[in-house]
Amino acid sequence: MIVGIGIDLVDIARVKRLLSDKNDRALRRLFTDGEVAYATARAEPARHFASRIAAKEATFKALTGHPLSRSIGWREMEVICNESGAPRLALSGLAASCAEALGATRWWISLTHSEGVAGAVVVVESSTAIQQPLP
Ligand SMILES: CC(C)(COP(=O)(O)OP(=O)(O)OC[C@H]1O[C@@H](n2cnc3c(N)ncnc32)[C@H](O)[C@@H]1OP(=O)(O)O)[C@@H](O)C(=O)NCCC(=O)NCCS
Repeated sequence: MIVGIGIDLVDIARVKRLLSDKNDRALRRLFTDGEVAYATARAEPARHFASRIAAKEATFKALTGHPLSRSIGWREMEVICNESGAPRLALSGLAASCAEALGATRWWISLTHSEGVAGAVVVVESSTAIQQPLP
């Protein structure tokens, strides 16, 4: 059963500006060390930072069923790519607690980017179907 879904688009030019204005401070606030290492090793880092911001925003949306989701920290949602490049979402801290409280047992993520924009979709799934009372 799906307990949350989120989608987000991020303008890559805005991320380029953020990186040139705030650089290290922005990187440390928004991204884990692994995400910084992944993106900075690519030819166009801003694209990959943008897809990761979209991933985090989409995760917020997917977890909004929990009242504390607005307090989730950016670095508590991490995108990790496997050797074939496929991303997965690792949750920690409050993000993991919110997911657990929603009954989530698995979460799915897909990323994309073009010249101008990066996007992400997140689906949060529970293998233990929660019985919602009918309205
Ligand atoms: C892997 C592939 C699906 C990526 O698609 P793309 O259009 O090049 O790139 P997109 O901008 O849409 O997506 C990039 C994101 O895809 C994700 N991705 C990369 N490899 C992936 C894989 N094997 N599975 C799932 N997601 C993958 C990554 O998260 C990446 O973003 P990131 O580097 O910031 O983490 C594509 O390169 C591919 O191999 N397609 C196979 C089919 C094919 O050859 N089609 C062409 C003929 S129709």
